[in-house]
Amino acid sequence: MPPEPTESRTILWVYAHPEERSLNASLRDAGVAAAQEAGHRVVLSDLYAMGWKSELDGADVAGTPDLPPEISRATRRAYDAGTLAPDIREEQRKLRDADALVLQFPLWWYATPAILKGWIDRVFAKGFAYGLRDPRQPGRTFRYGDGPLAGRRAQVITTTGSPAPAMGPRGINGQLDQVLFPLLHGTLWYVGIAPLPPLAVHSADRFDRSDFREASSRIAERMHGLFDVEPIGYRYQNRGDYDDDLVLRDDVAPGATGLSAHQEPEQEDRRRPEPPGRPHVPELSRT
Ligand SMILES: Cc1cc2nc3c(=O)[nH]c(=O)nc-3n(C[C@H](O)[C@H](O)[C@H](O)COP(=O)(O)O)c2cc1C
Repeated sequence: MPPEPTESRTILWVYAHPEERSLNASLRDAGVAAAQEAGHRVVLSDLYAMGWKSELDGADVAGTPDLPPEISRATRRAYDAGTLAPDIREEQRKLRDADALVLQFPLWWYATPAILKGWIDRVFAKGFAYGLRDPRQPGRTFRYGDGPLAGRRAQVITTTGSPAPAMGPRGINGQLDQVLFPLLHGTLWYVGIAPLPPLAVHSADRFDRSDFREASSRIAERMHGLFDVEPIGYRYQNRGDYDDDLVLRDDVAPGATGLSAHQEPEQEDRRRPEPPGRPHVPELSRT
């Protein structure tokens, strides 16, 4: 029996693979179909098909007078003036309108393909995705949980050549969520988007029909539960866990170090209140 239809939401599905006959293309088709079957609207950004320009450069901010030489300030100025390159503004519009972001890619050298890294470099401009000051906490900006894109969630779907055990807690390729830490924590959580546990399709170079059925049904299941699954419990920057140097306070997870220290153990209460009187991050309004 088909699952109950859920409330309709918009998903921006950013897809990075050069080859239409690939495993990734088949998984994308299965995932998009499942998301639509769950009642959601899917907007696809197929980066190779779009001929997406991956380099952030001066052309992205051309036309803005008196640009400062620092690239982040230049993009901030161009964002405020509405003069960022049109392809960037279009992707920002799609993301602003989305309730969830899906990033789908093959893992290449422990990272996203360059074209997707370039989508992030160019679309997550200062002013749009980071760099807004928190007026109640001098010297701090809204980021790590409270960034300007808060209120959205993200699903990373990646295929890997590595078998699953080799990306497990003691696997030679490193534990999946730690390999993806720069994307999940340093990028998505930084701008306020709550990442869900990533979905990995392992041993992707040795796939048969039954592997594909299993992988596509895992992705379909996640699409049906996309707005119910609990995001990864990363710590908020501005809600008391970090001191003025942005280091974990001594009484928070004493002794814990490394990447996993920035994630709350499951038993900790996730309903951390916002600081009293603290305003919500302003709504993004610029087009
Ligand atoms: C340039 C390149 C780099 C890769 N780096 C990794 C890697 O760091 N870790 C890994 O597990 N697999 C790696 N692989 C294997 C790919 O992840 C795998 O071929 C892909 O996920 C298969 O999906 P596809 O058939 O849709 O391309 C790499 C492959 C290529 C081409």
